[in-house]
Amino acid sequence: MIICAGSIFLDNISRIDQFPKKPIKVLSKSIDKRLGGSAAVSAFTAKKLGCDAKFIGKFGDDSASVFLKNEFKKFKINISKSISIKKCKSSQSFVIEDINGERLLAAYNDPKLLNYKKIPNLDFRKKDIYAVDMRWIRIATEIAKMTNKNNIKCVADLDNFKNTLHISQIVKNASHPIFSEEGLKTYKRNSKIKTALFEIFNETQKFVAVTLGSQGVLWVDNNSLYHCKIPKVKTVETNCAGDVFHGAFASALSLNKSNIESIIFASAAATLKCMQSGGIYSIPTISLVNKFSKKIKISKIK
Ligand SMILES: Nc1ncnc2c1ncn2[C@@H]1O[C@H](COP(=O)(O)OP(=O)(O)OP(=O)(O)O)[C@@H](O)[C@H]1O
Ligand SMILES: [Mg+2]
Repeated sequence: MIICAGSIFLDNISRIDQFPKKPIKVLSKSIDKRLGGSAAVSAFTAKKLGCDAKFIGKFGDDSASVFLKNEFKKFKINISKSISIKKCKSSQSFVIEDINGERLLAAYNDPKLLNYKKIPNLDFRKKDIYAVDMRWIRIATEIAKMTNKNNIKCVADLDNFKNTLHISQIVKNASHPIFSEEGLKTYKRNSKIKTALFEIFNETQKFVAVTLGSQGVLWVDNNSLYHCKIPKVKTVETNCAGDVFHGAFASALSLNKSNIESIIFASAAATLKCMQSGGIYSIPTISLVNKFSKKIKISKIK
């Protein structure tokens, strides 16, 4: 079972031709309502790739919560350990996107949701694999600590965070900390990417990676630096590619793939995702991912 814990959002998207110079009334070309949030999208990815998936997050009790819970039900993803808070709104974002992909995004989190302190009781079973994002930091810190103690794999999505002691504990404890480029800059205060990766490796003595969008992935394992190169593709939706990467990486580990094989598998899944639009409905199937994996190249840099 892949257990994903962290953020869940309802994204409301409206597409326009171009942004006006002043905030005036314009016509929208299309609208969409989509499930988002890093850990949530990772759970849908694991499920789409054939793994059993569970999601742990915080919901409100409004109409957005009903929509989101229904998506989990449709995909048969267990949310029984999630929390539902009364008289509270689920997190939502409102996105205005132009034809060049420029976006204005306003995200709303109900203070009641942010201030909810309790985390559910979890039993840490050897056969499970965890994936956490940094948006529900208390549960991510606890999961990283307990998975480390029980020798269970934990994939941490180190993106969208402020540097705190919690973050360094997660980097230390999670078996597979994987940064976004921005995340690594925040964590290592703008050192060069390779220097930052080796610094973290020297502190933790284990796998550490960074995803670099169209530039693929760089990672250090066993004191060596590797690069995963992805082919040039026509992208139509790069939003949530990182979330698909993390869900697919956890799925690969659960299929007993090595770290290198898991990077290839996750890169193939995320790159294919960028070639289709439709949010969670455009996550690729396992057979497409396996086929595309053959186009991914790995090199050892030093
Ligand atoms: N423009 C792109 N072309 C091809 N593949 C991409 C592109 N952007 C992202 N990917 C794929 O998705 C993976 C993760 O992307 P990225 O590093 O941008 O994640 P991120 O910064 O966490 O972004 P987000 O969380 O917003 O999706 C990359 O390693 C790559 O496989
Ligand atoms: Mg990300």
